[in-house]
Amino acid sequence: MNYVIPSNEIQRRATPDGSDPSKLHITAPFCKKLFGDARRVPLRTGDADIVVTSPPYWLKRDYGVTDQIGQEPSADAFVASLLECMENWKTILPAWGSVFINIGDTYHKGSLANTPGRLEIAAQDAGWTVRNRIIWVKDAGMPDPAKDRLKSRHEYIIHFAARRRNYYYDQFGYAEKYGNGTGPSDVWQIGLKRDMSAHLAPYPTELVERILTLACPEQVCTHCGKPRERIVRRTSQLDTSRPQAKRAMELAQEKGLTAQHIAAIQATGISDAGKAMRVQTGTGRNSATVKVLAAEAKAALGGYFREFTFAKRETVGWTDCGCGAPFRPGIVLDPFMGTGTTLRAAGDIGRSAIGVDLAQKTESERLTQRGGGD
Ligand SMILES: C[S@@+](CC[C@H](N)C(=O)[O-])C[C@H]1O[C@@H](n2cnc3c(N)ncnc32)[C@H](O)[C@@H]1O
Repeated sequence: MNYVIPSNEIQRRATPDGSDPSKLHITAPFCKKLFGDARRVPLRTGDADIVVTSPPYWLKRDYGVTDQIGQEPSADAFVASLLECMENWKTILPAWGSVFINIGDTYHKGSLANTPGRLEIAAQDAGWTVRNRIIWVKDAGMPDPAKDRLKSRHEYIIHFAARRRNYYYDQFGYAEKYGNGTGPSDVWQIGLKRDMSAHLAPYPTELVERILTLACPEQVCTHCGKPRERIVRRTSQLDTSRPQAKRAMELAQEKGLTAQHIAAIQATGISDAGKAMRVQTGTGRNSATVKVLAAEAKAALGGYFREFTFAKRETVGWTDCGCGAPFRPGIVLDPFMGTGTTLRAAGDIGRSAIGVDLAQKTESERLTQRGGGD
């Protein structure tokens, strides 16, 4: 059973640099739903760029479908099923693709089964890289009558990369959207919202949007399959909401420091071990001129010198593979589609999506029929 969500549910968006998408030949996002097993997704290499999914948790809910995952006799057998899925998804993703799995733990015979930890270890043993264990902090959850332990109000989102390096990642874009511009953390506080069927959605769209912003490219070349990557440049502007930064800007102006002085500070860094050093001469050393300018700036700014090493950065463009072929939006695959949260979130931010589920009826249709949630 294949069908495409009507195009009025898919929001189109402008190109990241604000230019006219038609000039860049960007194909429109699509949304597709397939019926099948997450262990044998009927797609070929390059059909998706990232997997974002929330599989059934171990021994939680019986979906009543043959071959379902989640009702295995042991935690290890459950993890083995998930690993089988991951090995299949690896054959679909490009080398720069990632897998993000939302997983919660299960109490079994009074003890946490540690399914998230078991999955991480099994995946590492199979050659996957565990890049992040994001803690999703929830402000509410299912009622829990236990009086001898705390209620569980968190789950994990584990970022697996098939390779250690070179996976697509836009931390700058993520920080601009969800953080304060620097160093976003692996703790995400996202409340549970009511979904269309008035039940507490188990898997908020914001969670998916964050992941896609981080690791699903906005544009991919339809010819060579390379994603366009953000090009970021450091400016000479500081965040003047911080008093030290404001004073540093004032001092720089009072002492007549030039843009070359600021560039020299940034090239030198706080110490001579500054990582930007090598760009100055290509020899691993700063040029004599840069050293002189940096020394002048240090004399003028004193302790405020270091403020300019934290200058704001800005997007100046996007890489272009040079093929001249049209670009397409990044494609997310959710092999445990359920109600289709991932697909909706993808459409909201202009990505294409493919959902797969064993059940012919979607989760929301089942919930509506039953007239209630879990
Ligand atoms: C926890 S739900 C997904 C929740 C989803 N994130 C959402 O927003 O609704 C899990 C889904 O996995 C499906 N499922 C279970 N075993 C499966 C398998 N082997 N292959 C594909 N889908 C499966 C179930 O039918 C169910 O719809």
